[in-house]
Amino acid sequence: MATTLTTLAYLVASVLFILALRGLSHPETSRQGNVYGMIGMGIAVVATLLKPGMSAGGIALILLAVAIGGSIGTYIATRIQMTALPQLVAAFHSLVGMAAVFVAAAAFYAPESFGIGVRGNIKASSLVEMSLGLAIGAITFSGSVIAFAKLDGRMSGAPILFGGQHWLNLGLGILLLVLIIAFVGTGNGALFWIIAILAFALGFLLIIPIGGADMPVVVSMLNSYSGWAAAGIGFTIGNLLLIITGALVGAAGAILSYIMCKGMNRSIINVLLGGFGTDSGAAAAAGAGDRGPVKAGSPEDAAFIMKNASKIIVVPGYGMAVAQAQQVLREMADLLKKEGVEVKYAIHPVAGRMPGHMNVLLAEANVPYDEVFELEEINPEFADADVAYVIGANDVTNPAAKTDPASPIYGMPILDVERAKTVFFVKRGMASGYAGVENELFFRPNTMMLFGDAKKVTQEIVQALQK
Ligand code: TAP
Repeated sequence: MATTLTTLAYLVASVLFILALRGLSHPETSRQGNVYGMIGMGIAVVATLLKPGMSAGGIALILLAVAIGGSIGTYIATRIQMTALPQLVAAFHSLVGMAAVFVAAAAFYAPESFGIGVRGNIKASSLVEMSLGLAIGAITFSGSVIAFAKLDGRMSGAPILFGGQHWLNLGLGILLLVLIIAFVGTGNGALFWIIAILAFALGFLLIIPIGGADMPVVVSMLNSYSGWAAAGIGFTIGNLLLIITGALVGAAGAILSYIMCKGMNRSIINVLLGGFGTDSGAAAAAGAGDRGPVKAGSPEDAAFIMKNASKIIVVPGYGMAVAQAQQVLREMADLLKKEGVEVKYAIHPVAGRMPGHMNVLLAEANVPYDEVFELEEINPEFADADVAYVIGANDVTNPAAKTDPASPIYGMPILDVERAKTVFFVKRGMASGYAGVENELFFRPNTMMLFGDAKKVTQEIVQALQK
């Protein structure tokens, strides 16, 4: 009876996790999705604690671990800067990977506790699950540590390349498979640790050739690996919910990586093999010709033009996130709307540094969802917009993506801001964006640069509008 109740609780939790993913797919329903996820996880934890056969000591240990881990997690989550989220996610994935390694080791040395046989005589199917969980977990761990170090600037974001790298990785991957087969056949303890060391090395080698610009895709891929590692642990400890949750995370991470690659027009194979399209220094040098002067304006000029416009499209980018300008941006939009100006927001799928980055920030500032549009929807509207207000965005507006086959962003769909009558670029100077490519739009006659921090400039426009 108790077992049936546990299974039922797990089923309810699984359904809630699926609803959570569905909710998270749209900004309007994402809060609801989060609530579903939290309730699901609450049910899962309680059901696991009340599982038949759980000792009081075991429950106490779990609660202690939850209290320690939960406190550290809460502390970090409340202090983390929005712009540092990608590296935080990478760091958390490394923990999932390490947990998979520990569970595999525990199952190997104390199989009786897991009901998978006795020491020296573990069921072959359990050895398969254990070794896969171990290998994927170890790859996730070391790969995520490197991703964290690159994203956090603790090591250079430049790809580390050497001759025969991909062949070496392929060779190690094949060797890993052979060792797993040998381990399943023999249950040998030394092989267990050789697999672990080899997988740690492979995780490291797989991520070092990947350049900084591709890192968010890799973090999402590592997220997927961590899901599969968790599913592996689920098989080892016979926990259905862990298998389902792991598979959900694994599939969601893989799909997200694919969507991100599509948004940047990159092949996922190229990203995962690493070292492609990351030569940003050369690209910047190649793009940087003498293009003549740029036209710089003041916030007062911008306020005047915008007040007299009938339609404005705001294009937010990474710089808005850095400056935390979303709140004042909404204030600006509110004032303009009062003047009868139509204001819309255009979101590029890879604006910022992580999927949904801009949507989250705009939602935080209570920008109405029905004013926020995706690239395909909004692009045809730039032609009849009086102003494109590009705030801290650069690459996502760069026409080189359409015209220059040598550019690292060539083929990436972009927001057609140049079709608007006037384009404002709010940024601190003439620096290029993440891809390191100069944006020729800065030099166009219908462009006005508004130099300065995105929040400060927008604040000054708000003041001018209030006069
Ligand atoms: P970027 O092209 O990186 O441009 C951001 C601009 O913001 C910079 O040119 C910078 O110019 C400006 N900026 C920085 N701090 C600022 C501040 N405090 N105030 C005002 N401006 C500031 O950003 P984007 O257009 O959002 O494009 C995103 C890039 O990241 C793309 O290349 C994309 O492929 C890449 N990427 C994104 C993702 C995801 S999932 N979003 C994943 C991987 C890679 P100044 O220094 O002159 O101010």
